[in-house]
Amino acid sequence: MRGHYEGLAAEYDEHWVYDPDYVPWMSGRIAEALRLTPTDRIADIGSGTGLFAREVARQIQPHHSILCVDPSEAMLRGLGTPPPAALTPIVASAEDIAEGRARLPYEQLDAMWLKESVHHVADPAHTLRGLAGRLAPGGRLLVAMLSATIQYPLFKAALARFEELQPDPAVIAGHLRAAGLETTLGHVEHELRIDRDRYFGMVRARYMSLLSTFTDSEIEKGIEEMRVAHPEPVLVFPDRFAFVLGRRRGEGA
Ligand SMILES: C[S@@+](CC[C@H](N)C(=O)[O-])C[C@H]1O[C@@H](n2cnc3c(N)ncnc32)[C@H](O)[C@@H]1O
Repeated sequence: MRGHYEGLAAEYDEHWVYDPDYVPWMSGRIAEALRLTPTDRIADIGSGTGLFAREVARQIQPHHSILCVDPSEAMLRGLGTPPPAALTPIVASAEDIAEGRARLPYEQLDAMWLKESVHHVADPAHTLRGLAGRLAPGGRLLVAMLSATIQYPLFKAALARFEELQPDPAVIAGHLRAAGLETTLGHVEHELRIDRDRYFGMVRARYMSLLSTFTDSEIEKGIEEMRVAHPEPVLVFPDRFAFVLGRRRGEGA
């Protein structure tokens, strides 16, 4: 999976800037769900290129640099060289943070989020428990993930594989509860509008990691199937995210 992101890193952000509303919208939902304040010590676990952390920083103007944690150095290079003062890259996995193997500049965290990275964690129950243990009293942890089924205009085999691979948000909520966090499960939804040929290009570039489980010829066959199913020039479909929010008991927000 690391190879997948090393290959995708350079063009990752391009996939998402086609819709100028999407990144500010999602970042606003993250900041709102976590009730972020400028004094919070914050980490984005599996931050990738920091596309959302950068926008969250713009919105909340944090006093402490947001920690962008990702095992892929190539993705973290997307933060910029040098990275802006509001973002600090940390080359580590969620597991490294959970197990205390990676040193962080903050003793505890007031808020952390994992956006579309929890499916890369091998043992989510164990790792989420470890991450919850890094929270200060009153600290919040958000898992933002695609819902168990998606209505993307992908080819049928890709949608089926998504459902096979995607963890169930209700199960993730159970892990946060078992880790002692007060947990709620909600959803947020945004309408995506993408030029058809552009979307086919994203599929060809395997913009979702599940697409890297298909061979080149399977992808081309899949795009052909999509071409027939979607003659319209602009594809319009809902992007629905589960927001699993846990809060450690104690003081704070
Ligand atoms: C789909 S990308 C999401 C990136 C970013 N959160 C976003 O929404 O743009 C998944 C990210 O998870 C990272 N990742 C893979 N394995 C991981 C792990 N064990 N712990 C934390 N992050 C991981 C990948 O390197 C990649 O940057």
